[in-house]
Amino acid sequence: MPTEKDSPGGETPAAPPTVQDTAGLCEVITSKDRLAEVRAALPGPVGVVMTMGALHEGHAALIRRARRESGSVLVTLFVNPLQFGPGEDLDRYPRSLGEDLRLCTREGADAVFAPPAEVMYPDGEPAVRVASGALGEVLEGLSRPGHFDGMLTVVAKFMGLTRPERAYFGQKDAQQLVLIRRMVRDLEMGVQVCAVPTVRESDGLALSSRNSYLSSHDRAVATVLFRALRAGQEKALEGAEAVRRAAEDVLLQEQDCHLDYLALVDQDTLQDLPEDRTGSALLTVAARVGRTRLIDNLPLQVGAVESPAGEGVN
Ligand code: PAJ
Repeated sequence: MPTEKDSPGGETPAAPPTVQDTAGLCEVITSKDRLAEVRAALPGPVGVVMTMGALHEGHAALIRRARRESGSVLVTLFVNPLQFGPGEDLDRYPRSLGEDLRLCTREGADAVFAPPAEVMYPDGEPAVRVASGALGEVLEGLSRPGHFDGMLTVVAKFMGLTRPERAYFGQKDAQQLVLIRRMVRDLEMGVQVCAVPTVRESDGLALSSRNSYLSSHDRAVATVLFRALRAGQEKALEGAEAVRRAAEDVLLQEQDCHLDYLALVDQDTLQDLPEDRTGSALLTVAARVGRTRLIDNLPLQVGAVESPAGEGVN
């Protein structure tokens, strides 16, 4: 089944842009040697934004934040085969390099590193990978075995290749963010990991490359994820059980939303929040709508009144 992060549908991959198409756009680097040259000349601190392309305003928010805070901004654009499972449609992941370059240029990226798979994996699949461990086995990891190992492996490679001072990731993929933070800490990568709040449509749906492939019916149904998260958030003062119940009630009212999981977890360990715990937590949900698996989450304070601010609803 297509998954939200890795299988946004799409038809045949777009042809790479020609030289004329890329005039006036930021440089597209495809080799490690050229990347090393460009990297050496960039004024620091260098901020990196890693993506799989098919860029939207969520990605733009990451690049903008990196631009504001860094001397130089590198964007990586690579559809990483290692993080796709056998049933997932790697081949259909949308490619829109021309559009992506325009967005990166508009947001002030200094260069885009878009290597072919042979450059990233010259010997085929790497013999050694980063193991996500227990943190990668819960929530998304249950439905997508191997996904997080593949994701962390490519992120580690991009850290090594771009040697950034800072790396920017979206809160939209909360478990990914937790794992990257742990990898950077546990493996002493010496990079500051910066989290950017989820960018949403005006009705709350989190921006994702794959939303445009939802039918109009599915698109309407998909708003149930954010409605459920907000219903849970509104009960934050009453404790963990009330949060879970309120969110679940909303989800169960929508017949065309097939719930995978709804969880209120510790934001660092990703373990279920004990009923007596107050403070920071993450309310996170995954569900299938039509043929599309969607994920979303909201950070919240259990046992405290929530302010609805802090997230970019467009
Ligand atoms: P991708 O899905 O392209 O996302 C790239 C970055 O954009 C991630 O950090 C993701 O969390 C962030 N992002 C996506 N949608 C967002 C939204 N609506 N608001 C804010 N940020 C958003 O995540 C990946 O690629 C890959 O796993 C990658 C880290 C590049 C490794 O291959």
